[in-house]
Amino acid sequence: MLTIKNAADIEKMKAAGRLTEDVLKLMAEMAKPGVTTEELDKAAEELIRSRGGSPSCLGYNGYPKTICTSVNEQVVHGIPGKYRLRDGDIVSCDVVAKLDGFHGDATRTLLIGDVPEETRRLVKVTEECFFEGLKFARVGYRISDISAAIQKHAESNGYGVVRDMIGHGIGREMHESPDVPNYVGGRYGRGIRLIPGMTIAIEPMINMGTWQIKLMPDGWTAVTADGKPSAHYENTVAITDGDPIILTLSEDNHA
Ligand code: MF3
Ligand code: CO
Repeated sequence: MLTIKNAADIEKMKAAGRLTEDVLKLMAEMAKPGVTTEELDKAAEELIRSRGGSPSCLGYNGYPKTICTSVNEQVVHGIPGKYRLRDGDIVSCDVVAKLDGFHGDATRTLLIGDVPEETRRLVKVTEECFFEGLKFARVGYRISDISAAIQKHAESNGYGVVRDMIGHGIGREMHESPDVPNYVGGRYGRGIRLIPGMTIAIEPMINMGTWQIKLMPDGWTAVTADGKPSAHYENTVAITDGDPIILTLSEDNHA
């Protein structure tokens, strides 16, 4: 269902967003060579609960953990476990926290130690893709304008845009309408118009090589079909009469 949030709802989503952002900051501080993804997950769960929130992914369709940690060729939904981060890895930490009835959803791809220049460029361009899409997160545009901007920036840099996983509306539910693809396919110039009070998760998932992905036998972890690295960057965004509000990125943290 597509829900429009009023001013009071947006304030609550700001609080959920701030908590989500704070968890990601903690992940960035902790993510060093030798740390296990399970340690990151534990710390994320503790921080969310200590602030009176709850981990949205835990138990969602049977998902076993609080966060998703997708390393290197893993695209999304990597399950935290015994894996120890190594120098040169990248790890996408995807955090969804619920506070006071609303969800915040955000992802950062973190660099572990000395990451090859080629891979750092992928991470940087993926972040840029979000901000390219954000330019169209305004009244007067459609969802597909956001998608097209993301796709254009990724493909003009020679990267593959994941097509099988997409962004989404968010609010009292983690996944609401509308779909927010990062690829327009045949839908260009169509799709719903943006209106004030819509809240959406814009989340480019960008592959160094082919856009194609496959699912691992654990039933969750998506990996690139060619084994090349993949990066992910996500924020929860509110559409307003004017500039969009990034609910999971405080002003003082803007690049
Ligand atoms: N941010 C991810 C998403 O929007 C969170 C997935 S949680 C899981 O799909 F439970 F599905 F893993
Ligand atoms: Co999401």
